[in-house]
Amino acid sequence: MTDKKRLLSGVKPTGRPHIGNYLGAMKQFVNLEDSHESFFMIANYHALTTLHNSDELKENTIDVALDYLAIGLDPEKSVIFMQSQVPEHTELAWIFNCITTMPYLMRAHAFKDAEAKNKEVSVGTFDYPMLMATDILIYDPDIVPVGQDQKQHVEFARDTASKFNRIFGETFKLPEVQIQEEVAVVPGIDGQKMSKSYNNTISLFASDDELRSSVMNIVTDSKGEGESKDPETSNLFTLHKHFSGDKLQDLEKRYRDGSIGYKESKEILYEDIKSIVAPLRERRENLKNDIGSVHSILKNGGEKAREYASKKMDEVRKKVGVSLE
Ligand code: TYM
Repeated sequence: MTDKKRLLSGVKPTGRPHIGNYLGAMKQFVNLEDSHESFFMIANYHALTTLHNSDELKENTIDVALDYLAIGLDPEKSVIFMQSQVPEHTELAWIFNCITTMPYLMRAHAFKDAEAKNKEVSVGTFDYPMLMATDILIYDPDIVPVGQDQKQHVEFARDTASKFNRIFGETFKLPEVQIQEEVAVVPGIDGQKMSKSYNNTISLFASDDELRSSVMNIVTDSKGEGESKDPETSNLFTLHKHFSGDKLQDLEKRYRDGSIGYKESKEILYEDIKSIVAPLRERRENLKNDIGSVHSILKNGGEKAREYASKKMDEVRKKVGVSLE
């Protein structure tokens, strides 16, 4: 046992991570793992709500493990594991389902969006927030570091914890969501939130050519060189804020006085992103040559996570009355 605060977060293995995932969440993970007892999960059961191809799911899962390690997470310090290694998550989800109402889950943004777009919604998608509540609550974390788009899910987890505690007695801790303001919503190349489902991402581990082409495709207004540009409203400038460090003041001045064109700005951004991600990419390539150790890191992490979760589930089963002890 340690007196450090505990954190849990996760990434869904549905495709390549993008710089929104990195800045909004994964970079925080690295900053927090020294000061917190940390659990980093690969949400493969959540991925199953949209991905129905076993080879792809397996590959994406290992990919997220590689991503975690490449950005610098240390398996000696943190528990890195797959959701499916801890069946107590899905077991607890059933119990949460039984104390949650349909109208409550209908308030979920993701469900409302899918409905608005007339998409067919699977029961798993509808129930997504309950599984996510179990991911969090089963470890009693103090904080859940995420991007803005996951805020409502953490609120659902808190509500569910309160409801369970009210019905069955004090059992779950209410976690705090931790969102870093400046990177809460990283924009994609079209200015909307960067998201795999909007096809507007800049992949974190893209090759130089892919990276360059994504950056060159960032949408701007039609102002040419010599015309003053507004950094406040420029999506391209927002990305500079995250990558261009001490050049920022000068870039801002040049945007305002018109001495920079978007093409030059994009060239600078490309170089700046590249210099930050190239070392991560290199580390990832090296790790890929030793997939055996990635598997054993997950095996180890899964065992540690399960130790926590199974204790908590023993308590929960007794509280709800499905265990005769
Ligand atoms: P996922 O895989 O969609 O995203 C992983 C993390 O990246 C953040 N993020 C962003 N942050 C800023 N700007 C963006 N454009 C951006 N896009 C994504 C997300 O907010 C997230 O923190 N449901 C979760 C996975 C999950 C989970 C959990 C997270 C399952 N169980 C328990 C925390 C705790 C998801 O799909 O994240």
